Amino acid sequence: MARRPASKSTTSSPATEVLNRGFDPRLSVGSARPAVFRSSTYVFSSPESAERAFAVALGKLEPDIDEDVELIYARLSHPNAEILEDQITPLEPGGVGAVVFNTGMAAISTLVLTLCRPGSAVIYTVPVYGGTHHLLHELLAPYGIKPVPVPAGDTAALSRAIETTPDLRIVFIETPANPTLRMTDIRAAAEAATQRSAPPVVAVDNTFLGPVFQHPLQQGADVTVYSATKYLAGFSDMLGGVIIAQKPEILKSLKGTRAILGNILQADECWLLDSRLATVSLRMTQQSKNAKRIVDRLAKHEKVSHIHYPPLFVDGEQKRIFRSQCQSPGAIFSLELEGGKGAAFEFLRRLRLTKNAVSLGGMESLACHPATTTHSEMSPAELLDAGVKDNLVRVSVGIENWRDLARDYEDALEAI
Ligand SMILES: Cc1ncc(COP(=O)(O)O)c(C=O)c1O
Repeated sequence: MARRPASKSTTSSPATEVLNRGFDPRLSVGSARPAVFRSSTYVFSSPESAERAFAVALGKLEPDIDEDVELIYARLSHPNAEILEDQITPLEPGGVGAVVFNTGMAAISTLVLTLCRPGSAVIYTVPVYGGTHHLLHELLAPYGIKPVPVPAGDTAALSRAIETTPDLRIVFIETPANPTLRMTDIRAAAEAATQRSAPPVVAVDNTFLGPVFQHPLQQGADVTVYSATKYLAGFSDMLGGVIIAQKPEILKSLKGTRAILGNILQADECWLLDSRLATVSLRMTQQSKNAKRIVDRLAKHEKVSHIHYPPLFVDGEQKRIFRSQCQSPGAIFSLELEGGKGAAFEFLRRLRLTKNAVSLGGMESLACHPATTTHSEMSPAELLDAGVKDNLVRVSVGIENWRDLARDYEDALEAI
């Protein structure tokens, strides 16, 4: 076996921990990197061990401290998932463990299906990623799970909704919001949640700034959710999802649902994601520096009517939230262009270096028109309310030379 029992406590900084946890080369013929265990099933050392492994998996028995319960079947768990889950945990300070999924949407769906029943309510901030909106409104609302939208950044409205929504199970906060970068106060939401007799789970989609520039568990959130497809994987070459939690019970429930839905991240993908963790901070730091320099150049461009980017916030509450909960603005900005949808499309058509593609967080720069792509699940009225305008282009800045990118955007703007 390649894994070793999950590390109990974080003794070093995350950058060090990530390279030293979860994996013991002696258990993998000395290999300095984990082997890939593609097996779908695992051989038990005895029928008694099989019985015990099933009893633990089904929650009938608690494992003993330091017991290495035998693996059963890869839909439940496998060595590469366990290695990854152990290694990724210290990247989210306050986390006690992680659960990995085959996409970000699988992580979000599993969270909601684990915690909600017919009649439950889920508060979510607006705008929210189109897939999350679709999940809540189209897939789950017909089963009696009630989506309750609250404008991102409206701290009073969010606290009020948390106080008054009946049978509230989840407060789902996407901050910064995709694609307007509007921020929501995580701590205020967590405080409101704890006032309830049955506190809802406060979940933060940390895809845009985590795990480097925002740490929701330290702000009181119960879980952070990632589309690992983005910055964690970082090369636009795989899909993945992660949930990191500050309580073991919720991790156990999520793993139980995952075993039935069959959406665990597969061994090869775990191995790949695992190899990307050690550089996530380096990549995000460089991408963020690039974005800042580019925004400085574009801020006064006559064809740009507005840039959504945290250092350019004018709203006092948005400035406050940014200062209090983020260490950097990150590497995504959205441009509003003079000339409406036509100008936005023309800009995308004219880009030479930045690719017109959805997704974000990869080493290469990408740009898209959210209103007609990632957020097209939303109705025209919802788009308007959420500030996802027709003239808005979202840009995810990569690690290319920032001057080349800035010139790419200026040339495209000139050509509109
Ligand atoms: C903020 C956010 N959350 C979740 C997702 C869904 O992730 P995935 O595509 O890995 O399912 C995305 C995808 O773009 C996203 O931007």
